[in-house]
Amino acid sequence: MHWGNQFMNTAGANALACDAIDPYSLQPELKHAAVQITTAGLSYPLAVVRRCAGQSEALELLQRARAVLADFPYANVGLYGRTTPLVVFRGASAGPVDDAAILALDRLFGLDGEEGAIFYADATRRISKKAIAQHGRLLGVRLAGETQALAWLRQAMAEDELDVSLIRFALAPSAKAPKSMVARNIVCKCADVSDIQIHQELEKGADLPQLQKSLKCGTFCGSCVPDIKRMVAEHPPSIAAAA
Ligand code: FES
Repeated sequence: MHWGNQFMNTAGANALACDAIDPYSLQPELKHAAVQITTAGLSYPLAVVRRCAGQSEALELLQRARAVLADFPYANVGLYGRTTPLVVFRGASAGPVDDAAILALDRLFGLDGEEGAIFYADATRRISKKAIAQHGRLLGVRLAGETQALAWLRQAMAEDELDVSLIRFALAPSAKAPKSMVARNIVCKCADVSDIQIHQELEKGADLPQLQKSLKCGTFCGSCVPDIKRMVAEHPPSIAAAA
């Protein structure tokens, strides 16, 4: 229910909420709704991932990107990452979007330049992709017609895990990250904290309160706290902590 039309071009899941309320607290029933699902038929996907220099640049770009959400039958935009803030746009339409619309997206996200750019185009399938690298780091990627790499690109860009020699993988039609990238699972979605980060802190002897202080995991909605407690309980005493 937190993801409404601030971040997408519809009311999102809020459109599914029913009118029922709890008779005592008057809280609305937000977590259960009967739905019927049909395919949307929006077979042409779009995605943009753009790295920003800091939070203020990311928020400013997020604000500008909201203006184009209405141009697509489905579209959303949001922030991702902690140390390197990213703005991530996803859209879909029933058929290929024209070159002018793709160029407008590139301009909006500051990806219309040629310097440091690599391209992939398949005119028959109307697939068009572009990535721009600067100083050995990916600045942004725009995918149109095929967006499988989005599954790992956000993490790679947010954590600078994509070695410059592997930047071409950003345009590959694969949901699998390059082998050199370490697979990780997000344990705390609210704070975007992975199992790898938690294990690194556990190695130093951290317990739950210390993890919450250093990584902020488990300090928002709290739904990840049982998982973090389990990781703490299952982690063998570290040499660092014992010393
Ligand atoms: S998922 Fe960790 S605090 Fe919400």
